[in-house]
Amino acid sequence: MPFPEFPPDFRWGVASAAYQVEGAVAEDGRAPSVWDTFCAEPGRVRGGDTGAVATDHYHRYREDVGLLRDLGVGAYRFSISWPRVMPDGVVNAKGLDFYDRLVDELCAAGIAPAATLFHWDTPQALEDAGGWLTRDITGHFADYAAVVGERLGDRVRLWMPLNEPMVVTMFGYALGNHAPGKTLGFEALPAVHHQLLGHGLAVQALRAAGCTGIGIASNHAPVWPASESEVDTEAARSYDTLVNWLFADPILRGRYPVEELAVAMPGPVVADLAVISTPLDFYGINYYQPALVGASTSDDAEVAGALLPPGLPFAPRPITGYPTTDFGWAVVPDGLRQTVQMFRDRYGDALPPLYITESGCSYHDPDPVDGRVPDADRIAYHDGHLRALAQAMAEGADVRGYFAWSATDNFEWAEGYRERFGLVHVDYASQVRTPKDSYHWYRDVIAGRAV
Ligand code: FCB
Repeated sequence: MPFPEFPPDFRWGVASAAYQVEGAVAEDGRAPSVWDTFCAEPGRVRGGDTGAVATDHYHRYREDVGLLRDLGVGAYRFSISWPRVMPDGVVNAKGLDFYDRLVDELCAAGIAPAATLFHWDTPQALEDAGGWLTRDITGHFADYAAVVGERLGDRVRLWMPLNEPMVVTMFGYALGNHAPGKTLGFEALPAVHHQLLGHGLAVQALRAAGCTGIGIASNHAPVWPASESEVDTEAARSYDTLVNWLFADPILRGRYPVEELAVAMPGPVVADLAVISTPLDFYGINYYQPALVGASTSDDAEVAGALLPPGLPFAPRPITGYPTTDFGWAVVPDGLRQTVQMFRDRYGDALPPLYITESGCSYHDPDPVDGRVPDADRIAYHDGHLRALAQAMAEGADVRGYFAWSATDNFEWAEGYRERFGLVHVDYASQVRTPKDSYHWYRDVIAGRAV
């Protein structure tokens, strides 16, 4: 099948996040974030890896933007480090200057800057005061959004106040395998409401600063019932409500998906929902793999005991019959089409234009030989997902762009540096960057030369 055609103004992009690439964690007035703290705790991150140096992007951003320019992307999604810019409520001029330089460099390369404001690196000082469990943090977040919006709003084309609030809630506060490492189970629900409120206030602050192109980057996936039985179908429905609609409904419909969840939130919920549902210019979906979910059994308690809080009515099951990445994630390109379709079905005309703000795969690529890194599996991943996206668009979806995760290999959170998602290989000892075969392939896609 020939490679599908995308509209001429389709935005081809790549994505990254501050803590995963920047390093320079103690430079130019940056204060610690929850991820610095988490990485310093023994046993939290594979191999004791930390983001202290990462890909040294803070010092090598010019080289990295040069790679993006040669790739031909129209947009670069990066995140701004809150603890670099506003560590304790006061603006750190040197931190903000870095993003000013990065944005200028991107503009000079003809690349539209797309900025995330919070990609998981909460300033440690705010976490010490209760973090996303408190209402207070939402005001701090709005102040930070205003500062960044005023400085960069003339050049940044797309804004995403939050990245994946579901992951922050589930892994950071409910299960504890991400920073800040809390194991609160359902007591983590305030983190949902406060992130959503922070999102709404930040959207308003950005608008007030004259910014345009405001959305979110939220992870979503189709939830497949493990069988047709009533219990499995019901379990899949509960899971779907919690991981997809708990986050999207308040933003796109101004209400929580079920009343039990609304009443569990710290209030004033109705007034907050009016802020949370401030209209967006786009909705960004991060997609990696579907979820297969069944009713939990006593076996699950043993298998998943360490990961899932007790008493949940559902349990994720391994997806079989599809290839998996080296990270063990199922490769299901049609899941991207299904995700887009489920948003269209649920929200109809209330759905703003979509972006795929992340999609990608980790393979444990070989070291470069003669300047080459063959990564046919990664090419197959993006090829398949772009074809699925083209199909969704042919079915009527209004999708404006695709951001491959990620530009370069980087620090993959609790998995450290073992997982490699980049189109560009990074040798962490020398910081040498080597474009992989997938980089050359993506360049051809963008140039309209893909086969
Ligand atoms: C997403 C994150 C991103 C990256 C990819 C693999 O959940 O937003 O930072 O780690 O997964």
